[in-house]
This record gives sequence, C-alpha cells and structure tokens, in this order.
Amino acid sequence: MASSFNRGGKGKVIASLMPPDADRSMVALRDHMTEGVVDYEWLTSISRRLRSGRIVDSELDDIYPTSIRAVSSLFWTPVSVAIRAAELLVKEPSTRVLDVGSGAGKFCIVGAATTGASFTGIEHRERLVRTARLAASRLGIDEARFIHGSFDTVNIESFDAIYLFNPFEENLWDSESHLDDTVELSDERFVADIDSAEALLARARVGTRVVTYHGFGGQMPSSYLRALRERRHTGYLDLWVKMDGRSVVRDGALAIASDPCDDIERVRS
Ligand SMILES: C[S@@+](CC[C@H](N)C(=O)[O-])C[C@H]1O[C@@H](n2cnc3c(N)ncnc32)[C@H](O)[C@@H]1O
Repeated sequence: MASSFNRGGKGKVIASLMPPDADRSMVALRDHMTEGVVDYEWLTSISRRLRSGRIVDSELDDIYPTSIRAVSSLFWTPVSVAIRAAELLVKEPSTRVLDVGSGAGKFCIVGAATTGASFTGIEHRERLVRTARLAASRLGIDEARFIHGSFDTVNIESFDAIYLFNPFEENLWDSESHLDDTVELSDERFVADIDSAEALLARARVGTRVVTYHGFGGQMPSSYLRALRERRHTGYLDLWVKMDGRSVVRDGALAIASDPCDDIERVRS
C-alpha cells in the first residue's frame, strides 16, 4: 500500500495528515472515523477497488467532505465515465493527461488509478485543489497531481491528452446554482474561457487526444477529427484527435497518413 498513509496504530491512519489549511468542519468521513482517526482498512479497500475499476460512485464519494459529495452527480465525472474516458485518452503508461477544471479531482484520481498514467488537474478554486490533493493522498494515487490556477496558464505542449467535462457552463447559471462564490463567474467569463479553450486546443501538438464529456461549450478547431462518439451516463463522450493536415476522412473511415493516430480506425457518430 502507498506510503502516503500515515499509520497511527493498527489499521488506522491519523486524520492529522490533513493539510493545516484544510477546512476541518467539512471533513465528512464520520462513518469511517473514530475519535478523529480514519479507518485505514476502509481506505485501503477503497483504493484497491478503485485500482481494479470495481468501485461505484457512492463508495468513492465517501472519501470526500459532505459539501463535495452533495454536488457529485452534477459537477464530477461518474466513475464509469471516467474509466472509459481515461481508457480513450491513454495510449501508453507514459501518456500525460490534463484535466481542464479538475474540481475535487475525481476524474484524475480514477484515471490515474485505473491506467497508471500521469494525470494533472488544473482548477481555479483553491479549496477544491486542496480537497483533490488530500483525496489522492489518502488513496495513495501518486500519479494524480493538482495545480491551482486558470487553465489558460498551462503549457499545453507538455501534455499528450486533454479532458474537458463541460467546465465553463457554470458561468451561465444563476448564482444560487454556483458551486461557491470564490471565483468570478459571468457571461463575459464564459465567452473569454471558451475563446481561451479553443486557442489552447489549437496550440496542442499533433496527435493530442481530447475527450469531452457533455462537450466544452465551444467548437473544436478544424485541425481535430472526431474519432469516436459514445453515449455514456447522461451525455456523450467524444474522442477527438489533432491531425497534421495529411489525414483524410473517406466514407466515415479515418484514413491515417501519419503515425500518432494509428489506432484510430473509424468515426462513429
Ligand atoms: C464540471 S466540473 C468537472 C470537474 C472534474 N473535471 C471532474 O470531471 O470530476 C468543472 C470544474 O472546472 C472548474 N473551472 C471552471 N472554469 C475554470 C477555469 N477557467 N480554470 C480552471 N478551472 C475552471 C470549476 O471550478 C469546476 O471545478
């Protein structure tokens, strides 16, 4: 089991492994805590089932604070969708995946746990970054990392694959439906973020794989071809591949003229 668990006696992990700035009032592991101590065996069994892909949302969500669990079905990628999206994005263990707007880290944690590849989430809400880091640490998922900031600050060329779960739509909702009021959300921000996302996708390297779940609100640049569309849970998972301009589509089949996308054979829609 991963060394990030700080054992505090037989079968226990000390809850003080929380960072000092974590909001302790939000910690909702009550069913799995006694006198401030988290049940190590329970965490170990969640981690083991997560790595084998045999875990359901309610089990994984249990490691999160109440406020994070409460919005899970709306804001975080369901486990089964995350497993499939990660499978589409990761070609080999060295693949580096970026999650644009990583929230509480659920997608990155599931993706890293089930593929062994490197997943980096960028998230503009600092409290969610802290929550995601804590969750990954509790589960011993070292390949899931989280950066605090706006997505447009990343060097996209250092990633091989990108995931977007409709990150910007919250800008268009009434304030009562917002996750919190710690970041600026507005129609203007929506337009600016969509423009930045399209520019970021256009800058990505040839061969970059992009998976969207419920879209991302903008248009994929014309340099991308949609290689796959699948109905999953409440929306569509779309796999896009950045092409080099030499590849062509004939009769629904994607004829590959260059190496990076050699496993993409058919466009299904
Ligand atoms: C629908 S949630 C998806 C969370 C995560 N990708 C998952 O699937 O579990 C979208 C997230 O994007 C974040 N977000 C929105 N705009 C952002 C921006 N400009 N930069 C970084 N994060 C952003 C939100 O705070 C929210 O946590």
